[in-house]
Amino acid sequence: MIGRLNHVAIAVPDLEKASALYRDTFGAKVSDPVDQPDHGVITVFVELPNTKIELLHPLGDNSPISGFLERNKDGGIHHICYEVDDIIAARDRLKAEGLRILGNGEPKIGAHGKPVLFMHPKDTTGTLLEIEQA
Ligand code: CO
Repeated sequence: MIGRLNHVAIAVPDLEKASALYRDTFGAKVSDPVDQPDHGVITVFVELPNTKIELLHPLGDNSPISGFLERNKDGGIHHICYEVDDIIAARDRLKAEGLRILGNGEPKIGAHGKPVLFMHPKDTTGTLLEIEQA
């Protein structure tokens, strides 16, 4: 069911510093920051030949990554995202297998303009997993 690795998301306390690390030190293609008000984050996309890295920084007062950054002051891997062909079919299969889907269970439009869902990390080996209909 799951396909390619779409991205690895890293929460960072200092977006400019993290962007400079990837752009200047690692020599990667790095986007400008993009506000994602529906998700409470600012994203910077790092394009790699085979996948993407998303640098996440809180946007607004109730960002879903604020608590994570309080626990991980230097930042850290926040989630990984797998591609699926059909997000509703994937969701229904996951639910049938007993996994919890976060939020109201309906896909949201993610940072790439495609529908996404997140699974409860306690059901997925302690790792927050996102699926995206690519
Ligand atoms: Co993501």
